[in-house]
Amino acid sequence: MSKIIAVHSYKGGTGKTLLSVNLAATFAKSGKKVCIFDLDFRAPSLFAILKAEDSEVWFNDYLNNTSEIDSVLLDLSSKVSGNGKFFASLANPSTEAIRDMSSKDRKWEMRALGRLLALRESLIRDKEFDYLIFDTSPGLQYSSINAIVAADFVVVATTGDRSDVDGTKRMLKELYNLFEKKTGLVLNKVLDASATSKKAELAAKVKTNYNVPMLGVLPCFCEILRAEGNLIFVQDKPDHPFTKILAEMAKKIEVNEVN
Ligand SMILES: Nc1ncnc2c1ncn2[C@@H]1O[C@H](COP(=O)(O)OP(=O)(O)O)[C@@H](O)[C@H]1O
Ligand SMILES: [Mg+2]
Repeated sequence: MSKIIAVHSYKGGTGKTLLSVNLAATFAKSGKKVCIFDLDFRAPSLFAILKAEDSEVWFNDYLNNTSEIDSVLLDLSSKVSGNGKFFASLANPSTEAIRDMSSKDRKWEMRALGRLLALRESLIRDKEFDYLIFDTSPGLQYSSINAIVAADFVVVATTGDRSDVDGTKRMLKELYNLFEKKTGLVLNKVLDASATSKKAELAAKVKTNYNVPMLGVLPCFCEILRAEGNLIFVQDKPDHPFTKILAEMAKKIEVNEVN
């Protein structure tokens, strides 16, 4: 079963953070115990999206081996409806922390991987979390590779943008195949995605371009742009088509049926 999910992409702005937060909230709404982690140490964003600017504890401290995991988890369950649990561990957005994380050497990254791998025992086994979701940096950052290695399932977000397609292809072939990771592709920001003919066309394109299972197709929604990151969409807009698509994705991951 997939318990640890990394959300990754070749380029930035493909919707990783949006997908991570809303997948986590979808699981929490359905009664699961979930924790989302900001592993985008170069451009932290969860602190803002989750309105946790006042936080004084950071996932950086856990990876730096200066804090235990329990003390860097924020319980934000009050942000979601239902009886699930929603926790977050944030990347430190201070300039100093960003510079610090950008200057880590290989040895540090290897130890950080060990700390990431240890989460399975400390959170999934001991604290009975159902899902851990890693929101990553785009591309081949060490921190993202670590997240992929530690995950059971990788959600790859991509847009139709020319500059994204070739890089994504290469990444799928050279990185995920290398680690033999279960992978699901999300085509995001698709225009006119609801047309049936368009769906078949997209599925065929994904098959020839990427040769990986599809997790879902997400239209470009003006309402999402208009919200300017102020909403957890699946929570605040329960009847929106976006919420329905996210629920389908979560179900596919839950029942292990990505194809
Ligand atoms: N399907 C979509 N429709 C409309 N806007 C979207 C969609 N997906 C993502 N966005 C917007 O695109 C921007 C980048 O998304 P984000 O999740 O921050 O990407 P990443 O984490 O991959 O850099 C955000 O403003 C986000 O709200
Ligand atoms: Mg992001």
